[in-house]
Amino acid sequence: MTTTPQRATPEIFSSRNLFILAAIGSAVGLGNIWRFPYVAYTNGGGAFLIPYLVALLSAGIPLLFFDYAIGHRYRGSAPLALRRLGGRATEALGWWQVLVCFVIGIYYAAIVAWAGMYMIYSFNKAWGDDPGAFLFGSFLEAPDSPGIGFDFVPQVLIPMVLVWVVTIAVLALGVNKGVARANLIFMPLLVVMFLVLVLQSLFLPGAVDGLNTFFTPDWAALGNPGVWAAAYSQIFFSLSVGFGIMITYSSYLKKKTDLTGSGLVVGFANSSFELLAGIGVFAALGFMAASAGVGINEVAAGGLGLAFVAFPTIISEAPLGSLMGVLFFGSLVSAGLTSMISIIEVVIAGVRDKLDLTKPQATLVVGIPMALISITMLGSTTGVYFLDITDEFVNKLGILAGAFALVVAVGWVVRKVGVLQRHLDQHSSFPAGRLFTVVIGIVVPVILGYILITELVTKITEPYGGFPTWMLGTFGWGMAIAILLTGIGLSFLPWRRRVDLGFDEDHNEHNQRPEGVTR
Ligand code: ALA
Repeated sequence: MTTTPQRATPEIFSSRNLFILAAIGSAVGLGNIWRFPYVAYTNGGGAFLIPYLVALLSAGIPLLFFDYAIGHRYRGSAPLALRRLGGRATEALGWWQVLVCFVIGIYYAAIVAWAGMYMIYSFNKAWGDDPGAFLFGSFLEAPDSPGIGFDFVPQVLIPMVLVWVVTIAVLALGVNKGVARANLIFMPLLVVMFLVLVLQSLFLPGAVDGLNTFFTPDWAALGNPGVWAAAYSQIFFSLSVGFGIMITYSSYLKKKTDLTGSGLVVGFANSSFELLAGIGVFAALGFMAASAGVGINEVAAGGLGLAFVAFPTIISEAPLGSLMGVLFFGSLVSAGLTSMISIIEVVIAGVRDKLDLTKPQATLVVGIPMALISITMLGSTTGVYFLDITDEFVNKLGILAGAFALVVAVGWVVRKVGVLQRHLDQHSSFPAGRLFTVVIGIVVPVILGYILITELVTKITEPYGGFPTWMLGTFGWGMAIAILLTGIGLSFLPWRRRVDLGFDEDHNEHNQRPEGVTR
């Protein structure tokens, strides 16, 4: 009873190198440039590299292989691939990943847009003497106290529209003409700009002090569970594992490929870039501290503070500061756009598979409403508070919770880790082996379970960031619960495309793309 119509837009990366490039493009993003340096610094400095490497090897790389195996074997977006893997319950986890991407995409676009504007501001150092006041006052026009406001802020709104137009256009063109080409443009640009930036930073006075601070190990930090939690959540976000991206991208890989070899290239490229970012950022902060005659601890900041307050200060004072600004914010835009593209592709692929749309149709059906929500929420005066809370809850907690639920479901409920291991072994230059089964079945669930419980307890006992309860309830907890319930709800909606949902039962051999068969 199979009719096997082709997928409306059969998409395959035309080479493995393009897939690797797109996967690195997805991995290297805002997480590497503005998140890693500060996370490392506040969690033990040089000593953080130990939990970081442990997290990379014990969970990051194995989960990358896990995502690759799911996407490549079951050939679909996260909900479809996971439906085929384990039925309705795992499909719901696929929708959880799609919805996490939906929420992250909404604010990721804003940060890329801000970076674009700051690239322009770098020419005349528009922030003047007080970059902090400029950011929150003149630029974001954020109200003094957290609240909801929909007064549009043109200098944020216009670049956001541009970011969305570029993202939607790239995605509508498909994986080769759109995603691969965008990565072929932005990734070399990023590498060149970032290398020049790091070199420039290393020659600034005070750079060595910055590096000393960054690398000086605080061994005591290793006894703190929070430091380990930070390392794991950094690795997940940074490697783009656990939230559907790698499942989606690897579903576009040719059948004959090298999964584990590709995973290692992507994993180590991402971490190398991250380390480079740490070196560049702390060299620059060393200069900032030396110019102000203060300790590095007084100038080091993360996230918004690092990119949009500390860096403008450095740019104002450093020789060739404007060049540095263009390089830094240009790097953020390039790295951010390629990651943003991969995040939105997860949502588009999920909707396309479920509703049986063509790629351009799905791109518009997903892209336009997302862009409107994103522009309304972040292009207005509510923006910065929404961003802070959802980033903490959906990014940190949502990805960890989704990854935990999935490894437990696959390892212990539907018991498919062995199937995935065999798939990896058949499609790789070196086998994943039994070690993969043990790590995904036992090590990762134990570590993630522990971190998740610790994080939840902290979130419940210490209201995040001093925000009012109603705001945390709406953008934080409320958003997380809404995502969960929506994910479950979506798994009950019928598939409009007549897809084979029971792939493992119906086909023993992977070498056929199970499009449009039976339900
Ligand atoms: N992996 C992407 C980043 O680091 C999402 O920003």
